[in-house]
Parts: sequence; structure tokens; C-alpha cells
Amino acid sequence: MNVLVIGSGGREHAIALKINQSKKLKSLFCIPGNPGTNKFATNFNISLTDYLKISDFCNSKEVDLVVIGPEQPLVDGLSDHLRNEGFKVFGPSANAARIEASKAFAKKIMIDADVPTAKYIEFSSSQLIESISYLEKIDYPTVIKADGLAAGKGVLICGDKSEAEAAIREIFEHKIFGDSGNKLIIEDFLEGEEASVFAITDGENFICLPAAQDHKRIGDGDTGKNTGGMGAYAPAPIIIESLSKEIEIKIIKPVLTQMVKTGNKFIGCLYAGLIITKSGPKVIEFNCRFGDPETQVVLPILNGDFLQLLYSAALGKLDKSSVQYSGGSSVCVVAASKGYPDEYVKGFEIKGLDLSDDEIIIYHSGTKEENGKILTNGGRVLGVTSAISTFNLVSAQKKSYEAISKINFDGMYYRKDIAEKAFKHPK
Ligand code: AMP
Ligand code: GLY
Repeated sequence: MNVLVIGSGGREHAIALKINQSKKLKSLFCIPGNPGTNKFATNFNISLTDYLKISDFCNSKEVDLVVIGPEQPLVDGLSDHLRNEGFKVFGPSANAARIEASKAFAKKIMIDADVPTAKYIEFSSSQLIESISYLEKIDYPTVIKADGLAAGKGVLICGDKSEAEAAIREIFEHKIFGDSGNKLIIEDFLEGEEASVFAITDGENFICLPAAQDHKRIGDGDTGKNTGGMGAYAPAPIIIESLSKEIEIKIIKPVLTQMVKTGNKFIGCLYAGLIITKSGPKVIEFNCRFGDPETQVVLPILNGDFLQLLYSAALGKLDKSSVQYSGGSSVCVVAASKGYPDEYVKGFEIKGLDLSDDEIIIYHSGTKEENGKILTNGGRVLGVTSAISTFNLVSAQKKSYEAISKINFDGMYYRKDIAEKAFKHPK
């Protein structure tokens, strides 16, 4: 099979690397890819908004499957375009991708499907006064979310009424999230540990991959600003087997059914962002794609043929037996540029990438190659990831930290406590 992976982050590096292990693969292409994917696939630099060029490319390379990694091209309709041209695509239509692109849409789907989630109310920007008076009636902390995509920054947790009012004004009056803040939701604050669950689906049938846990904040002990994710581990021991069944039955299945019912059949990876509360798992968000950096730890602990899994989903005949949990464990520590998630400087040479260890994968997220050197080119630069064959997150964590200590670039920053949260759970 000839396969095209769309995207340039650590997630796409992980997806491409896993596809590259398939015996069914003939040629692997990435648009645009990164210096990591360039080692085993062929990168092509085509704009993700140039749909005609992308479909011409697929025709000329006889592409059998397109896997779309990031949310923006999905929300913009790239999968619809390619499907209309007759290509097989792993990734939802623009309509189905609204489950990520509109929090109000996602909430409506959840409420109608009776899926456990925080209680909420929706306001549009013409309701500034109503939304502020509503703040009198609620408990704190409360959570205010811009409706649309906001690069992971659209969620504001407000400790009291004055913070909440300031948040609403920032969104509606100062337009800090642009049009993504034309609507907002105010929802109850949920307490508990978070987990990310990926359901691979053909729209009706699905399988859940081993659960992972992300580390969203920049600082150790979950302090400081929210980021795209500073590290992850899998499997997350908080998701014991009975909980995983509950998530499938009470969350994934009814949402997929509701998506079909409303004419928004979802084909791809449905990512459920959960909080495990005292009264069970509740959804805080859905994403319409694989998570980053969670994908970097989930895929290495799968046996079987990942390409077959994605291809069968794209065909509408999910082959659930194509992958299985390997029994292993994986920890990814993200190396970031100094200053991230705020401003940072790019272009520093990265040294120590030539590590050779079968149990370590160095995923590229924000790098570029210039004159044979690999340079920093983003906020999140690398995902240094261990993947060992036993369920031992302590060993996996140790391996990742040993590996990252051998890599360096000017201003390299990473959290020192990735996966620590797992250790309090019994095996
Ligand atoms: P999101 O962008 O929806 O993933 O939200 C970013 C972060 O905000 C999540 O990872 C949670 O830590 C937090 N969050 C979102 N919704 C809630 C909620 N209802 N209660 C508590 N924390 C939340
Ligand atoms: N790791 C969070 C995300 O992919 O949205």
C-alpha cells in the first residue's frame, strides 16, 4: 500500500513510524513531515490548504490511504475533499470534526446521548450581560471555555466571580480568541485525575487503544501555564479494566451512535479527554484526532498491524483484531524551547540525537534540518520516549530521563516529573 501522512509534529512522526512497520506498506509519504519522518519516509512540502495539489499528489503517487494528523485540516474539510476525489481517508469529515471545533456542538451531542459530562450553559457574544449575571448563581471554581479552536488555550479556570467576569470580557469584548470566542460555555469544575482515550472507529465499530495520561502544564507538579502537552505515559493505571469497559459503554458507543443519528458519522480517531471523578468518568472534551504527545506513548505499546487498523477503519470495515496491547509501557518527556508556551527563540543546534538504544525513540516535533544539522524550530522540540516490553512505568520513566540527559540544545527545558502520577496507583 502507498500511504500519505499529513502533518509535521511528534504525533505524525509516531503515526508514520508505526505505519512504517507494516508488511502491507509499499511507499510512505509525509506532507510536510519533519526531519524525523525524513529518515524512513519521503517528505513533500505542499501547503495543507492547497487541496488540488494534495489530490494531484495522491493521484501521481497512487496513494491508497491518507492519514490526517492535525485538527485544523480536518476542521477545514481536507478529508471531505479527498474522499470526494475517491481516496480512502483516515480522519473525520469537517462536519464530524465539529466535535472538537465547537464545544457547544460537542456538549449537545453528549447531552442528547446521555454521556456523563460537566453541567454547562452556552452564551453567545450578544449575551454579555446575561452571561455575567449568570455568574451570581454558580459555585467556584468554574470553567469558561471558548467555543472554537484555540490551540489548547481556550479553557479558563476561574477561582471566583471577578475572575470569571474578567474571562468573559476577555473572550467577548477583547476577542482574545478571535471568532473562536463568538460563543462560550460555562461549565462545572470537575475534580479528579485526567486520562486520554483514543477510540479508532469506522463510524460504528470501534476499539479503544491503551489509555494515556498527558501533562498539560509547563511546570513540575502541574504548575504554571497550559501547554500543548509536556509529556505522557501509557498505559495509565488509573484506567483499570472495569473503568475501560464503562468508558466504552457509557461514552464512546453512545457518542458514535449520536454522531450517526445526526448525520455526522465519525471515521477516524475519536479522542476522549476524561476526568475520573468520584462518581465515574466524565468527558471534558472530545478531539477529532490523535493526541500529542499521547500518541507517542500509545503506539509503541501496540503489537500487530497499525496500518491495517487505520485502513480498515477508512474502508468502513474496522478490523478490530489488527492491533493488541503489547503488555509494555512507554514514557515520553517533551524537550521544549526556553520560554515556551510564551515567546521563544528558534534555530539552536540539537546535539545527542544519535543515541542508539532499541528501547528509545526520539520523536521530532519542532525541528528543521539545515546543512546536515538538526535545529530547533518550535516550542515543543522533541519527544524523548522509552518503550519497554513489560508493564513497568518506573523503568520506562528512568530510561526516558537517562536518554534526555544526553541530548541538549541552548535553553532546553523539560519537566522532571513525567509519569510520577502513575506510581500511586496499584498495578
Ligand atoms: P481542554 O482544552 O478542554 O483539554 O482543557 C484544558 C484543561 O482544562 C484540561 O486538561 C483540564 O485540566 C482543564 N479542564 C477543562 N474542563 C474542565 C472541567 N470541567 N473541570 C476541571 N478542569 C477542566
Ligand atoms: N495532548 C493534548 C492534545 O493533543 O490535545
